[in-house]
Amino acid sequence: MRFLGLNKLPIAQAHLRALNNAGVNSVKFYSATAEPKEPVVRTKTIPGPKSVELNKKLGEIQSTGSIQYFADYEKSSGNYIQDVDGNVLLDVYTQISSVPLGYNHPRLLNLFKDDKNIKTLVNRPALGVFPGKEWPDKLQSILLQVAPKGLNKITTMMCGSCSNENAFKSIFIWYQNKVRGTAKLTEDEICSCMVNMPPGAPELSILSFKGAFHGRTLGALSTTHSKYIHKLDVPSFDWPIASFPQYKYPLEENVAENKKEDEKCLAEVADLIEVYKKKGKPVAGVIIEPIQSEGGDNEASPEFFQGLQRICKQNGSALLIDEVQTGGGSTGKFWCHEHFNLESPPDVVTFSKKLQLGGYFHNDDFVPKEPYRIFNTWMGDPGKVIILEEILKVIKEEKLMGNVASAGKVLKDGLLSLEKEFPNLLNSTRGRGTYLAVNSVNGKVRDSIVANLKLNGIQTGGCGENAIRFRPALVFKEHHANIVLDRFRKVLKSL
Ligand SMILES: Cc1ncc(COP(=O)(O)O)c(C=O)c1O
Repeated sequence: MRFLGLNKLPIAQAHLRALNNAGVNSVKFYSATAEPKEPVVRTKTIPGPKSVELNKKLGEIQSTGSIQYFADYEKSSGNYIQDVDGNVLLDVYTQISSVPLGYNHPRLLNLFKDDKNIKTLVNRPALGVFPGKEWPDKLQSILLQVAPKGLNKITTMMCGSCSNENAFKSIFIWYQNKVRGTAKLTEDEICSCMVNMPPGAPELSILSFKGAFHGRTLGALSTTHSKYIHKLDVPSFDWPIASFPQYKYPLEENVAENKKEDEKCLAEVADLIEVYKKKGKPVAGVIIEPIQSEGGDNEASPEFFQGLQRICKQNGSALLIDEVQTGGGSTGKFWCHEHFNLESPPDVVTFSKKLQLGGYFHNDDFVPKEPYRIFNTWMGDPGKVIILEEILKVIKEEKLMGNVASAGKVLKDGLLSLEKEFPNLLNSTRGRGTYLAVNSVNGKVRDSIVANLKLNGIQTGGCGENAIRFRPALVFKEHHANIVLDRFRKVLKSL
């Protein structure tokens, strides 16, 4: 490629501008393209031959065991993802619950026709040191607009795991500030932390739940307990792990039994906090998902969460709600914990996925006093915040939360009737909004259903031992739900 000499650049730009003004070679703006009417499967297997070829190529340089197929993101549209072999799948998994407006939404594509936005994208700053002039306003007007009620501070991060990881650090710092009170930092603390020893590196813990998933980075991994393969061979902290309620479904028919389960699990939490205090590893914080997602879409009742918050308060432990997967609207509320009617806001709420960048909301107590205590080079991404701003506008203008409620009802009712029609294959339909799941009888049957759904044009995901999860975009509508249900019935009949 030939580059223009620097001195020629202004002339070239002026020329381009003139051409644009004359309508010659003008910037192309995207308009809404029609979604495919229905899924189309063109290959006998998915992955098809082109995906297999690409997998081989990539396999020469990295591990590819988790790859399902290679997508063609230029051709994907709305709720439909297209693969390189021309298969067009109705995507109700959306990059593990991370695509709020579907693929190639014109409003998002057009954002980067704007000179200001493209410069924000290209000039990515080290946010903790050289933020752009618009950053405070952007945080105020975009992220704080969707902050969970009662939380007025935000720390931006990169992904879900590092949001949890840094939130743990904030919790530990908060806890030690309380312990230290007005006392001055000692020489002993300063020296001992440098060699990973107390009192500077104190023995504190984070309580988590069996079946939980909070990420794979080293600290977060100590609170993840969904699959052994995530944890094998990696040293972990000795932190308490409590039982998460295991409910009987349907919930309305098993109220008394499930209530007992709540009480049992809460008693275990209180007990473990006591045990770890005696062990010299006090519980500084408790981390929990509003719906355990990777672990199998396990729900807990509002009363359970209220009880958990009470226990945290009694013991001076922070309550961290991990909304990395549930946050962003698909449960019918922007934050799933809004369903729980908590007496007061949780102390920390982490997010990522649909919000495009990671981070956590918190109150003043969790803002570190000294610089560089919670820090990394990027600390988020202003380019992603531009996308998030537009997503939030579209959610409002297109009333997508209402959409979630109506499409979610069709999908959930349909799953409940499939459960009745095929009791030997399905049970325990559950969830809120479009954030739904149904159990299969065992892992083998579940895997076969997920694979056959894909060959019938529906991209879903598995979670836990035997659950099939649905994570459609917020633009998923009732007619999409009907397509999913028709194809699901066809698959179940064929088994
Ligand atoms: C509840 C929850 N927390 C944390 C994470 C980790 O997020 P990431 O994969 O962005 O690190 C996930 C990922 O699926 C998640 O579901």
